Amino acid sequence: MTDHLPEPTHADHQGIATEEPIANPGLPEHQWRPTDVDPRAEKRAERQVAALFGLAILGAIGFIASYVVFKVGDNPDTIANLGASNVALGVCLAVTLFGMGAGMIQWARKLMGDHEIVEMRHPASSSEEDREAAVSILQTSLEESGLGRRPLIRNSLLAAGGILGLLPIVMLRDLGPLPGDKLDHTIWDIDTWTPEMQAWWKTQNRTLQRVVRDVVGTPIKVTDLVIGDLVNAEPEVMFAVDAETKQPVVEGTQLLVDKSKAAVILHRMLPSDIVSQQTMNWSVDGIVCYSKICTHVGCPISLNERTTHHLLCPCHQSTFDLADSGRVLFGPAARPLPQLELTVDDQGYLAAKRDFTVPVGPSFWERG
Ligand code: FES
Repeated sequence: MTDHLPEPTHADHQGIATEEPIANPGLPEHQWRPTDVDPRAEKRAERQVAALFGLAILGAIGFIASYVVFKVGDNPDTIANLGASNVALGVCLAVTLFGMGAGMIQWARKLMGDHEIVEMRHPASSSEEDREAAVSILQTSLEESGLGRRPLIRNSLLAAGGILGLLPIVMLRDLGPLPGDKLDHTIWDIDTWTPEMQAWWKTQNRTLQRVVRDVVGTPIKVTDLVIGDLVNAEPEVMFAVDAETKQPVVEGTQLLVDKSKAAVILHRMLPSDIVSQQTMNWSVDGIVCYSKICTHVGCPISLNERTTHHLLCPCHQSTFDLADSGRVLFGPAARPLPQLELTVDDQGYLAAKRDFTVPVGPSFWERG
């Protein structure tokens, strides 16, 4: 029973209410817990709490025993014990913590004092004396620092503070340099290739660059894709190897930069599902090819809804319609996904007819 503290009376609450602008509705009538009114329930709760603390003791003993029993080391005889030791230690520690926590919760809920109290808030503002003391401390500090008497120090301090404010402005320069026309073309445009790439291309005796599978670099025929397929792809030059040196023609930073701009996705749908005339003209038997780089802030996209032909960017959920020129259906992207014009070469492989006609990726200041 918790009758050692007086309960607030109804009259108390009424008294408080008259001092406040909004009437205090007071507290509902107190409901005593079974353990407050039934000594047998109180004893039962006491035993429950003790049992939970006992469980915690058993867990702790088990923890120590596990530590001793499982010999852990790096020789073949003991290495198998490592997993068992970890499991046993973890389980015993969990039992100990559970027993302690649950015991304390039961103790507080069922046995500790159960009485409502009303505590008036203190005023939020400081007292007049405290404020005067604070002002006095500030004035004393100013006098002791001599700031008023030493204009040289004061002015140089103000100048240093002002310069400090300029530093973030200087760092704005790191947002540049502006890309110029570097984002207007990708490696799909053979005319922009380096001499090494051009030399390799001459050995291929072809005019159209193939669209090949990402990672493995295998060329793709129309019949390789079924309706609903979505394939990550790249320009074939990314996998070109110099016949003499046996080294990749594109490598290092150039490879990463070119790949990040030229990555595409291929998707096959029924030609009758294609909505826009441009998408139809730039497709091959229902296969469309789009930039993989989201036009919002440039995340790679490849979440595809097979039946609707919607492509979803995982970063901020921009959704593009692959059947309708990459039109934005939803989300923060402001521009359609650039489409790459497809064709097939003389050996029946999918190839790009030309570079993207608009810059890929997010918007930038110099973009037309
Ligand atoms: S980067 Fe694609 S929605 Fe933001």
